[in-house]
Amino acid sequence: MNDKQILITGATNGIGLAAAEVLAARGANLAIVGRSKTRTRIASARIRAAAGKGATVATFIADLSSQASVRRLAAEVLARYPKLDVLVNNAGAMHGTRQLTKDGIELTWAVNHLAPFLLSKLLLQRLKESAPARIITTASQAHQGAHIPFDDLNAERSYRGFGRYCETKLANILFTIELARRLDGTGVTANCFHPGLVATGFNRNNGLLMNLGMTILRPVARSPEKGAETLVWLVTAPHVVNVSGAYFFDQEQRPPSPEAQDMETAGRLWEISKRQCAADDPSASVCQRCKVAQARSAW
Ligand SMILES: NC(=O)c1ccc[n+]([C@@H]2O[C@H](COP(=O)([O-])OP(=O)(O)OC[C@H]3O[C@@H](n4cnc5c(N)ncnc54)[C@H](OP(=O)(O)O)[C@@H]3O)[C@@H](O)[C@H]2O)c1
Repeated sequence: MNDKQILITGATNGIGLAAAEVLAARGANLAIVGRSKTRTRIASARIRAAAGKGATVATFIADLSSQASVRRLAAEVLARYPKLDVLVNNAGAMHGTRQLTKDGIELTWAVNHLAPFLLSKLLLQRLKESAPARIITTASQAHQGAHIPFDDLNAERSYRGFGRYCETKLANILFTIELARRLDGTGVTANCFHPGLVATGFNRNNGLLMNLGMTILRPVARSPEKGAETLVWLVTAPHVVNVSGAYFFDQEQRPPSPEAQDMETAGRLWEISKRQCAADDPSASVCQRCKVAQARSAW
């Protein structure tokens, strides 16, 4: 892995941190993204301690709930790395109560779906120039049974923390299949995976009761190291170099839900996501009649 440059979000804890430690131990050049300077520094020290010969660990600070912050992150990454082999969109969270981001987007949707969408878009040209390259997104089996609420995308009419989380994980898979379709023939692949039920910091931010629930589940949950295995495999395995648009669990390709395989839904979600990310896009214009931002970017 010595010549591989890997960018991984959500590497301050859980699955992302465990994956970063393993990849660094194999000599990869890692760039980790965290939103807290302190947690990112601590994670980076842990990853450095695990790092093998030739590995490097760089840190970037970004709050992925903010599109301006995602844009800053992408600009910093592009300025620093002339070559980018792997982008791992791993950061994610569930929020028990409905909150809006600075951009006016419901928070779970912004972090879990729009941040991977926008970051991938902004880094896509560099990934293409670095081909063969890979984009990997941490999805979840929680997508099963979920639907994209196109008539209430900002969850204004109803909000249930877990239901919303499931929608975002469905969006991760739909994003992956549409991205793979668009990347066909470029040498850049897009895949996603379910890590299993993993004992991490996930859902520890939603009050005492949820915290207790996660503690009760701990004995049946996997370790972060086990949860990270498929992610590490998708980054490193030579025989997935030509596989794209797939959903994996335990290093095996699995069919996701029928909704997650629907190309029409994937295309529709793509167009809406593009508009949702256009607000502070310098290449976007605002339609004076409807006041909706319209992206002119070409992807
Ligand atoms: N744990 C499971 O059972 C499970 C199952 C299926 C899928 N997943 C998925 O696995 C991925 C990783 O989660 P995990 O289980 O490892 O949970 P975790 O331990 O809570 O880690 C989540 C990571 O995402 C980061 N993050 C959250 N919100 C962010 C924001 N606004 N900006 C920047 N970074 C942010 C966190 O940073 P901080 O350190 O700053 O909080 C942390 O590094 C998620 O996409 C999750 O949906 C988890």
